[in-house]
Amino acid sequence: MSMQLHTESVETRRVTDGPSAIRTRQLVRRYGEVTAVAGIDLDVARGEIYGFLGPNGAGKSTTMRMLCTLVAPTSGTAEVAGCDIAADPAAVRLHIGVALQEAALDPKQTGTELLRLQGRLYGLPKAVARRRADELGEWIGLGDALQRPIGGYSGGMKRRLDLAAALVHNPEVLFLDEPTTGLDPISRATVWEEVQRLNTELGMTIFLTTQYLEEADVLADRVGIIDGGRIVAEGTPSELKRSVGADLIIVRVAGSASPVIAALDRVAGVIGVEAHGSEAVISTENGSSVISAVVVALSERDIGVRELTLRTPTLDDVFLELTGNRIADDASDNDNDNQGTPSKGTTDNREQVK
Ligand SMILES: Nc1ncnc2c1ncn2[C@@H]1O[C@H](COP(=O)(O)OP(=O)(O)O)[C@@H](O)[C@H]1O
Ligand SMILES: [Mg+2]
Repeated sequence: MSMQLHTESVETRRVTDGPSAIRTRQLVRRYGEVTAVAGIDLDVARGEIYGFLGPNGAGKSTTMRMLCTLVAPTSGTAEVAGCDIAADPAAVRLHIGVALQEAALDPKQTGTELLRLQGRLYGLPKAVARRRADELGEWIGLGDALQRPIGGYSGGMKRRLDLAAALVHNPEVLFLDEPTTGLDPISRATVWEEVQRLNTELGMTIFLTTQYLEEADVLADRVGIIDGGRIVAEGTPSELKRSVGADLIIVRVAGSASPVIAALDRVAGVIGVEAHGSEAVISTENGSSVISAVVVALSERDIGVRELTLRTPTLDDVFLELTGNRIADDASDNDNDNQGTPSKGTTDNREQVK
């Protein structure tokens, strides 16, 4: 489906120059003793896709909820589409579209009914709301399913409908909270394609949170990595990945990997070595020219190598270097496109209570 999304039915408010789409300064949100967001400065340019990447409990949803005026900041300031979230929340809401992590869709309603209702809620006249619902329905390509109750939709269909519902009033800035968590790989790819089209065809600014490295890597122009309520790194995906070296050699050993650090101390071409459990991450400028020297140095120290991998860095390597943990594993636990409530978070063992 590559139908153009027409915008004539709603006033176009997009401005291409002027202030940032999102700007925050020292944004903080506390819940009692818990500091969910610990002082965040964001500058998202108009027309940009910004990926907010971090593990469960990092503070992604809380940040997004503040920007969408659903939760008040404890301190700090934020402007969205040029409007102050504290002084003018109603104006912010008119300029944004929001798809939350838990889409609250009425199972008895049909897709078309939902889209029309959403249009009416945003004050579109009845005929315009109908036309807009048809346009969006065609745009998301759910076909005949749009006339059926949402209760029978798959997880992927619900997410796409929820995405379309966030677009009825042609928002300037679109907020997506973990848009593909719990989806199977094919539904995920469909959502990615839709997000990309919104950005390239309509120039929409998109702020999305994710715990999927690949999602941030594929979709985002710029990525902010968040951990413990703070942004620990920010840049384009390639800048971030380059920061950990051109090539990585990953060595898995029997027992602790800490002896690997000393063993590779003098090996030419090795930029740095980090040990985490039984795994050592060796950053190099040119992995294939260094790998045999690494193997020799390890065998000289009688370090038993179980597995040796040469690869280019991922955003997870960036996260590991900055925080000492990986984000990746929980992402693969949730790959089921279930019909019921999304399973996000329930299998995660890193839920933080700070
Ligand atoms: N309504 C709330 N009441 C108490 N604690 C909360 C609330 N919302 C979030 N938190 C806590 O704030 C932290 C960040 O949560 P959240 O923003 O949901 O993270 P993420 O979306 O990155 O998983 C977590 O420790 C979470 O338990
Ligand atoms: Mg969240």
